[in-house]
Amino acid sequence: MTWNKTKVTFEPKPQFFEEVGSTSDLAKMAGEEGKVAFSCFCANKQTKGRGRQGRTWFTLGEESLAFSFVVYEGSYVLPHVVSLSLVKVIRKLTSVNVKIKWPNDLVVDGKKLCGILVEKFNSDTPFYVVGIGLNIFKPEINKLAELTDVGGTTLGLYDDINPSREDFLDAFMLQLKTDIELLNSVGFVAFKDLYAEYSDTLGKNIVARTQTEETSGFAKELTDRGSLILETEKGLKEILAAETIMEQKS
Ligand code: BTN
Repeated sequence: MTWNKTKVTFEPKPQFFEEVGSTSDLAKMAGEEGKVAFSCFCANKQTKGRGRQGRTWFTLGEESLAFSFVVYEGSYVLPHVVSLSLVKVIRKLTSVNVKIKWPNDLVVDGKKLCGILVEKFNSDTPFYVVGIGLNIFKPEINKLAELTDVGGTTLGLYDDINPSREDFLDAFMLQLKTDIELLNSVGFVAFKDLYAEYSDTLGKNIVARTQTEETSGFAKELTDRGSLILETEKGLKEILAAETIMEQKS
């Protein structure tokens, strides 16, 4: 795999920290203070990294890229669009066959490469904090075992890449800004075909779980609003959100 460097720059420049509680807390403060959109905070280590459903998110030091930023415009499908922007950039910069597990996990060969946590805050001006944990570098062998034990993987596993965080963040932020503008003017329908092309969920038998419900079925299609249509034993069912999506091996 090669890391095809493209020199693009993006303002505002991200701020880098050695150790923080959670980069998403820094982005939340930026949102409360009305800082410019895409103000971004990146850290080598998080002592209180958080994931979805209240889970802890471990950051593997310099092997992973943990960053959060604030945006003021978005919708229910912001996580979908963020994941697609990441896929576009990773595919532009590398040859890794990265896909999207609905709604917004990035996977390679079914293993999790990246987690995205989008939180909405209702301050005077409502804002979103997008937190991204992306395994990017070549991990030491013991860390690799830790990662694979929990079903994870890293871009660095596929080749000797050593991208700079600045270059990656510049390319991603530029792509995301364009995509958020399109989301706000046209809606998710503008992304639907490409999202479906990179989907790791469509065309598979899956189980979608929420806190109260479990639905099994064949992931038939994606709607214009980003939800998933499952073909179940009782007919078609639209899934708007799920805590986990498990693939059912036949
Ligand atoms: C998930 O559970 O899949 C989402 C994980 C999101 C982790 C990132 S790392 C950067 C940012 N800071 C946090 O505390 N969480 C997010």
